[in-house]
Amino acid sequence: MIGVFDSGIGGLTLLHEIIEQLPNEQYCYYADTENVPYSTKTEEQIKEFVENAVNFFLQKNVKAIVLACNTATNVCVEDLRSRLNIPIIAIQPAVKVAVDYDSTKLNGARKKILVCATPITLRSDRFQRLVDSLNADTIVERMALPELVKFAENEIFDGPSFNYIKETLNQIELRKFGSFVLGCTHFTYFEPIFKKLAPQLSIFDGNEGTARHLKNILEKMNLLENSQSKFSIEYIESGKPTVNIMRFNRYIDFIKTLY
Ligand code: SIN
Repeated sequence: MIGVFDSGIGGLTLLHEIIEQLPNEQYCYYADTENVPYSTKTEEQIKEFVENAVNFFLQKNVKAIVLACNTATNVCVEDLRSRLNIPIIAIQPAVKVAVDYDSTKLNGARKKILVCATPITLRSDRFQRLVDSLNADTIVERMALPELVKFAENEIFDGPSFNYIKETLNQIELRKFGSFVLGCTHFTYFEPIFKKLAPQLSIFDGNEGTARHLKNILEKMNLLENSQSKFSIEYIESGKPTVNIMRFNRYIDFIKTLY
């Protein structure tokens, strides 16, 4: 079994991609809906929330844990990797994919890259290290859109969320940018809005790369499940006595319309 964790339902966009690439696995998805959004919490609180989810997964004897939450990753991934002896796969903003796209498809036109994420992700050391690892002439700008997490959790995918994104984008000179990088799994739900408001920009998220990374790691460790009959998904929301599977299905149906 593979444990997939997010502060809420954002990570379902990654789970969807993982299932595309690894269709035979058993999955347990843990949405910490009792504590979402993480971006308004302290690092100490986030560590505690993630610890609860990790302990839950360990009791289930998972073979790998996927952190499908950028905010939690930035706070916890190094500590988890140093303590646990199973693979901890973590989402990260697809900045390098955007840079490669610029230099191949745009003939090195080197437009700026706009990374949209939560404030914790954007000011984290981990994100800064990612930016520092790029060519010196790659210009990355940051845009925090913390309210999008709440819109996604409340299934508000147009109207107020459209206006919020529009007003935020109006504050910048969009023509200087070549791409958006969505650095929060909740933001993938709003890709159609980003496309509508800035059709000239390419959009990247970390889902495809993270799923591929998980597959490579499991392959190397000889841990891939090959039998088709094994596929299953368990969906858990923290603090909920009964699991809201209808809510899960609604999100998955919506995610299918995005691809
Ligand atoms: C949040 O819970 O505030 C954001 C989650 C994320 O960064 O993916």
